This record gives sequence, structure tokens and C-alpha cells, in this order.
Amino acid sequence: MSNPKIGIIVGTTRPTRFADKPVEWLTALTGERSGLDFEVVDLRDYPMPFFEEPVSPARTPSSHPVAQKWAAKIASLDGYIFITAEYNHSISGVLKNALDYVYPEFVRKPATFVAYGGVGGARAVEQLRLICIELQMAALRAAVHISRDQFAAVLQGEKTLSDFEVLKQQATLMLDDLAWWTKTLKAGRS
Ligand SMILES: Cc1cc2nc3c(=O)[nH]c(=O)nc-3n(C[C@H](O)[C@H](O)[C@H](O)COP(=O)(O)O)c2cc1C
Repeated sequence: MSNPKIGIIVGTTRPTRFADKPVEWLTALTGERSGLDFEVVDLRDYPMPFFEEPVSPARTPSSHPVAQKWAAKIASLDGYIFITAEYNHSISGVLKNALDYVYPEFVRKPATFVAYGGVGGARAVEQLRLICIELQMAALRAAVHISRDQFAAVLQGEKTLSDFEVLKQQATLMLDDLAWWTKTLKAGRS
């Protein structure tokens, strides 16, 4: 039987975004694991207009071709790791817009988070957990929070994320928990 698939969803799209650092770091860590397959899903590859559909995707799928491609990608995955910044104490507009375009494809799948910012992206993650619950995902407690000092040191080129053993420990706990939820919910859905 093939491994469950996890999408590492890159939640910001600015040309100079920090997000690529945690994506690169997490991809190296996931490469050391077995039992799950990981794939980076970059919102830059899904440039959707601001949502203005006649009805919610909970009822009717979008007819926009990029949104359909995005929904098909989400449907193909068994769990999600959101790489999220904190924009004004919440998630980025581009991530919220992308989440609004999809509904049934997320249902009964686990979601966890790698966040960065002044307070480790914690305020963004708290909001993202609520959104995930509304989309009927299982939002996990275990997550990675890249703190202000760690974020600043990496941004200034003084350190890399792999210099912080504590982040690796957080990631191990998060990935262990994600593996359990992904396999359990996949079995339940089938
Ligand atoms: C519009 C905007 C709002 C921001 N608001 C916050 C905030 O509320 N809390 C915080 O910790 N950082 C905030 N920041 C700083 C971001 O954490 C930092 O710019 C980060 O690099 C953004 O992620 P990105 O580089 O992947 O786009 C904000 C940045 C932007 C552009």
C-alpha cells in the first residue's frame, strides 16, 4: 500500500518571503523519515483571484481553472503542514483566500503548522486552527514555532534553522503526531 501523502503548504508569496527557509529546513527533516510522503505545495503556483464565487465551495466547487487545480491538489493529499507567517496577528491574505476556495477536499484530514514571527507566529496559528476546524480538519496541538530571536538570526544570515536543536525537537513531535493522525483518519475515511 502506498504511503499517505502530506502537503507542505507554503502560505506566503512575497518575492522576498522568509517562508522558503522553513520549507527548505522541513523538507530536509522529512527526507529522513519513512511512512509518509511529503510534497511542497506553493501558493505561488495557484494564483487565484479574490474569492467572489456565487456560493460557498462547501456546496458547489469553483469553476475557476486555477481553483480547480488547487482543489484537486488538496484532494490528493491526506494531511497538511501549513508554513505560515503572521500578518497583523493572523495568516496572510493569500492563504485565507486559498482556504476559502476549497471545502470537502479538506474534511477529516489532519493539519499542523510551522510558524514564524514576533511570538513564533502563535497568533496566526491560533486563528488558522479555528479556520481548519471550520473546514472539518483535525487541527493538531503539536506545531513548530520559530521564535523572534531564531527568526531574526536566520533573516540576518547569522544562523540557519538547523542550528536550533529545539526546533528539530518540536518538528519531531509534530511529525510523529501528524503521522498518527494521518494514518488513523485515512483508515477512518476509507
Ligand atoms: C503585512 C504584514 C503584517 C505583519 N504583521 C506581523 C504581525 O502581526 N506579527 C508578527 O510577528 N510579524 C508580522 N509581520 C512581519 C512578518 O512576520 C515578517 O515580515 C515575515 O517575514 C513575513 O513572512 P514572509 O516573509 O514569508 O512573507 C508582518 C509583515 C507584513 C508584511
